[in-house]
This record gives sequence, C-alpha cells and structure tokens, in this order.
Amino acid sequence: MTTESPRYRAAHDAFLSASSAYAATSAIDELRATDYARLDRNGLVYLDYTGAGLYAESQVRRHHELLEESVFGNPHSKSPTSLTSASHVEAARAAVREFFRASPGEYEIVFTAGASAALKLVGESYPWASDSRYLLTYDNHNSVNGIREFARAGGAKVKYLPVDASELRMDPDIVREELAKPVSGSNNLFGYPAQSNFSGVQHPLEWIDEAHEHGWDVVLDAAAFTPTNRLDLSVVKPDFVPLSFYKMFGYPTGMGALLVRRTMLSKLVRPWFAGGTITLASVQGEGWHHLAPGATGFEDGTADFLGMPAVEIGIEHLTNAGIDTIHQRVSALAGWLLEQMNSLQHSNGAPMVRIFGPNNMVARGATIAFHLLDPSGAAYDVHKMESLAGEQRISLRTGCFCNPGDGEVAHRITAADMAACFVEPASTTFQECQDLIGTATGKMPNTIRVSLGLASNFADVYQFVEFAEGFRDVDAGVI
Ligand SMILES: Cc1ncc(COP(=O)(O)O)c(C=O)c1O
Repeated sequence: MTTESPRYRAAHDAFLSASSAYAATSAIDELRATDYARLDRNGLVYLDYTGAGLYAESQVRRHHELLEESVFGNPHSKSPTSLTSASHVEAARAAVREFFRASPGEYEIVFTAGASAALKLVGESYPWASDSRYLLTYDNHNSVNGIREFARAGGAKVKYLPVDASELRMDPDIVREELAKPVSGSNNLFGYPAQSNFSGVQHPLEWIDEAHEHGWDVVLDAAAFTPTNRLDLSVVKPDFVPLSFYKMFGYPTGMGALLVRRTMLSKLVRPWFAGGTITLASVQGEGWHHLAPGATGFEDGTADFLGMPAVEIGIEHLTNAGIDTIHQRVSALAGWLLEQMNSLQHSNGAPMVRIFGPNNMVARGATIAFHLLDPSGAAYDVHKMESLAGEQRISLRTGCFCNPGDGEVAHRITAADMAACFVEPASTTFQECQDLIGTATGKMPNTIRVSLGLASNFADVYQFVEFAEGFRDVDAGVI
C-alpha cells in the first residue's frame, strides 16, 4: 500500500515539518480514524467534497438513536408528539443561527430543500420590475444563473461580469464600476459566489458592503464556501445566503437553508402560498389568505421534521471539529497539492498539469480544476481520467460542475462556439455540445476537479499526485 512505502513516509514527514499549520490539526486525523474509518476500510480516496461532504459515522448513530427512542408527529399542531418535532425544528434553526453568528434581530433562517431551492425562493419572490437590474459574476453555479429567468420574466436587465482568463478572477475595477450603476429607486440584485465551485476562487466579501452602499441587494452563494470556511454574519451582511447541509457535513441530504436578512423578508413577494406558509386562507373571496410572518411564510408544506435533528447533530459535529481548524487543514493540503501539480513534468520538460484558476493559495479554497496534459501539451480525455482514477479507488469529478461561466472562460469557448449548441428547436445535451465544439474548434469544454474537506488527509492528496505521475511520458493517443 502506498502509505507504507518509504517514499510516502519521507513525503509525509517533509510535509509535516514544513507545515506547522497542518500539524496543528492532528485532532482531525483522530476523527478520520474513528468517524470516517470507512474511507480507509474501503481503500477509497475521496476528492469530491465540493460535490458532497462526508458524514461522520457518529452523526448517523446519534440520529438513529434519537429516532429509535423518540416519537415524532407532524409539527403543525400541539400534541406531545407534534411538540417534540417542533422543538427539534427550532433547535436546528437555533444551531444554524449560532453557527453563522446570525443575530435573531437581523437574520431569519428559512429551511429549504437545499441551496438551489433557497435560490429559487429568492428568484421567484424578488420584486423584479422593468427597471430592475440583476448583476452577476460569470463564475456562478447554474442555480444562481437560473434566477436570471425570473429577472427576465419580470422585465429586469441582466448583466454578467466576466472572470479573467488567467486565474478566473474578477477585475475589481469592473466590479466597482458596475456596482456604482444601480437603477436608483428600483430593485437591484447582485449575485456572486463566496467561493467558485469550479476554480476555488474566493471573491472579496467586502463587495457586500460596497454593493449595499450603492443600493444593491446581495445574494451571496455560500454553498461551496461554508464547508471549509467561516462565514460570520456578525461581520458580513449579505441579504441572502443559500447553502446545502450535505455539503457542510454530509448528512442529511435534501436539506439546506436560506439565511435572509429580516429587512428583505418584507420586500419579497411570494408567488403562491402553501400548507404551512399562511395563518389563514379561504376558498371564498378574491384570493383571501394571510402569509405567516418570518421564516414560516417561506417554508412550504411540512418541514423535514425527522431530518431536523440530523442538522442539529451535523452542526454540532462541525463545531466540534472546528471550522477554523478544517480551513487551516484543507488550505495546507491544497497548497501542497498545487505545488506538486505545478511541478510535475514529463521527461521533455513539458508540464503535466494545467490548472484552471489560481495556482497558489492566495484568496482561494481547496477546490482545484485542471487538465492532465501529455508530453505534447494535449489534454487527456477527462472521462478516461475519471475512470482510470476510479480503478485506483480515487473519487474525483469531471464535467462542467454546473458552472458554465468558469468553464467557458477556462477553455476559451466563445459565444460563437456556444451558439452551435443553442440552435432551435433542437435540444442539445452537454455531451453533444462538447462533441460539436470539439469537432468544430478542437477545444475541450470539460474539466477535472479535485476538492478537499473535513476528513481529507495527506495520504489522499499524495495518492492523487501518484496517480497523476503515472502519466509521465504517456501520449494522449494511447490512453
Ligand atoms: C456554488 C454552488 N451553488 C449552488 C449549488 C447547488 O446546491 P444543491 O445542488 O445542493 O442545491 C452548488 C452545488 O454544487 C454549488 O456548488
């Protein structure tokens, strides 16, 4: 096994002595050995934390024990079993609030089915008007991009701000210039990710205050940021923060939240009502209904009341592991990984890796997008790489990661290239589009991504580097 080889030991010892920051996170090695033992038991190298976080075994055990010993009823009444459920819903809400230091006077925690559902809630309820603006960065996830359809339907103007081709970052001057141009007296929404789920780029959270000063409302997509970075809502004050719990602590899936500033709640207009969101409705009269105040008015139907205790347990787990410790650990590992990837060369001196995004740890997270290159500079087929990695029990990600903007810029795909995939009335899949563009231009709009998280350790990143090294001097044509 790799981790018992003298070469591994030497690399591990060198890394530990060079990185006191990593060495200080050894408590997580203990967690890995106890709460995530199934990874090593199954010989798995998990490198897709931006896709989904992993749950600790103790989280599931505690949740299971609670379900076994308690009786939960529908929370919408006052029976003892109903009150048990309701108390867990409120305890989960309090735990989320505390974790993000979101003051009750300032933020409301709305439970949703995940980050996408939270974003849809914003898009469908934001009071778009014909003079509104929706401004967003290129590197948003499709669930933020999708809000543009609500904006367009409401008559708003949609504008994208491009990332640069070298590091997939924003030009701060362009952002500043655009933020200075809201439509005064109208509703203007600015959307950006705290961390790109493609490139790992972390944008300045200072943009939030700047946007507010000019009269913008801000949706800060924190789905890829929150699993390994502290988001402190006592310091930064975005209006809307969507997130998914399975990305933060693996379990439960299908649950997330919209953290929303109370001042925004009264601005939002729900396009419908549902069971649970109203205080009163009548089938008579002209649309008689009263929306319930606060988060209740935005939580459609019955909450996932059996999942709620798992949120509380997950938050507690993350708190005990320490978000700052996790951050420190994944930053050290990603720094080492980037260094190794940047230094890998074929015998002819050609680089073996092309990183899409920053190639050092300045203002970036532990999510790395890249191609593996052959000695002539041609990229290996990413699907082939995924399956070869799979043969070595390595889980990585390939594709566009629902982030078309970063992908298009990374691979120099122009609007004219993309236009071929949007010829009506044919509907084109991502694979068909990739084939069309590949045939017409030779470009490959497809990427490999590795990402680190709570349970990552040195052996994980080392084994990935060993996998990549295995392609030294191998021609792309023979793979
Ligand atoms: C940055 C970002 N935003 C939003 C989402 C959507 O999250 P979900 O699929 O959990 O709704 C993701 C998922 O990968 C993401 O990475």
